[in-house]
Amino acid sequence: MRDLLGCSVLCDAFHAPAPGAATRLRNALIRIDRDGVIERVLLPDDPGHGVAVKQADRDGALLRLDGFLLPGFVDLHVHAPQIRQLGQALDLPLEEWLLRYTFPLEARFADLAFAETSYAALVADLLDGGTTTAVYFGTLHGPATLRLAELCVALGQRAMVGRVAMDRAELCPAHYRDLDANAALDGTLALIERIASIPDNRGLVRPIVTPRFVPACTDALLDGLGEIVRAHGCAVQTHCSESDWAHNDVLQRFGRSDAAVLDGFGLLTRRTVLAHGVALEQDDMDLIARKGAGVAHCALSNAYFAGAVFPLRAALARGVRVGLGTDISGGPSASMFEAARMAVAASRMLESGVDPSVPPERRGRPGSRIDIATAFHLATAGGAAVLDLPVGRFAPGMLFDAIRIDPHAPGGTLRVWGGESDADLLATLLYGASRANVASVWTGGRLAGRSAR
Ligand code: GUN
Ligand code: FE
Repeated sequence: MRDLLGCSVLCDAFHAPAPGAATRLRNALIRIDRDGVIERVLLPDDPGHGVAVKQADRDGALLRLDGFLLPGFVDLHVHAPQIRQLGQALDLPLEEWLLRYTFPLEARFADLAFAETSYAALVADLLDGGTTTAVYFGTLHGPATLRLAELCVALGQRAMVGRVAMDRAELCPAHYRDLDANAALDGTLALIERIASIPDNRGLVRPIVTPRFVPACTDALLDGLGEIVRAHGCAVQTHCSESDWAHNDVLQRFGRSDAAVLDGFGLLTRRTVLAHGVALEQDDMDLIARKGAGVAHCALSNAYFAGAVFPLRAALARGVRVGLGTDISGGPSASMFEAARMAVAASRMLESGVDPSVPPERRGRPGSRIDIATAFHLATAGGAAVLDLPVGRFAPGMLFDAIRIDPHAPGGTLRVWGGESDADLLATLLYGASRANVASVWTGGRLAGRSAR
């Protein structure tokens, strides 16, 4: 396989520009310009398709792709350092998990060599799994977090990278917290500047202001981060009303919920990504929708740490923008295929209810389920919309961030029998594919991950 700058591909693709509305683009001719932007998409019924195929072929710029093309996945919520405990440490509630396992692990990223090894493996693994865009929490260490950003540029992953800010002594232990609000603000500003000056960045990696969550931050820190956001127009990420404990901690301190508190500090904007949101109330959802912020729905992590299912359909109906996140390592899988599958399963459990001792008619919340095509939308175009990034679907003006699924890949887990409807074929790919089936990965038309090596 090769870079596709200035090329046309003839392919069989799926994308889902809207919830529940996946489309197959069969024998599509996608022309990619020299900057990696999709110039045009022609289907066999479109005028000029045949002529354009012949022309591209004559120019030596036509590539016929086997298998199926999907937009690359957008993972809205990853804790980069926690890759070191993926699949581990799932036995404690959130508040104990942070203190016992997670803060001590993250503190080790003061060691730049440890960070380098961990982050190089993480970025490669996510790309190879089909994640072409990731929104990362780093740690509170500037050098390690800058290294993460540099590795994303070097390996070709689109990313938003944040240095975690956390200074509140009531929650954060002395061995892992910012010295004070000013230290966190200086560190945040320094990373914003350094990411902007990474050579060859080409806009691939951007900084994101990252208050860990309201309980970990003093008022002075939240206030200062709001100032930075106003001055630099930066994106923001944080955890929001993740669990009863986190939600109630903020209610007790401020008499208001996370969303209102974040808004008061200028941290709830169209460029804000809120992780989890499981305990959001209707007022919070309305505020979030009004501000245009987005939610990273992390269904697998929520099963372990939130203690409830995010009411996804209710959020979408209230106009909240939503994408999916793995929440490595609160979610013990780095795969966005898994994130999509779990989003469907969680929605089904919310709809039906889960306690068999309760009569079925009172057990669940009707109208909660989503289908796999909607999960596919959230994992691609939905996440891209939350970030206002021109990726996630195949249309003129979008960057060509895509993965090629090879159903016959050695060691793969797919079986396509032939004769399936388009909807069944897409469902088969999404439920059945594993990393071995992700045969090629492109960001901005350039090969990335193991397919580039
Ligand atoms: N809340 C504050 N920090 C974290 C974290 O690292 N993971 C999760 N899931 N929730 C958090
Ligand atoms: Fe998280």
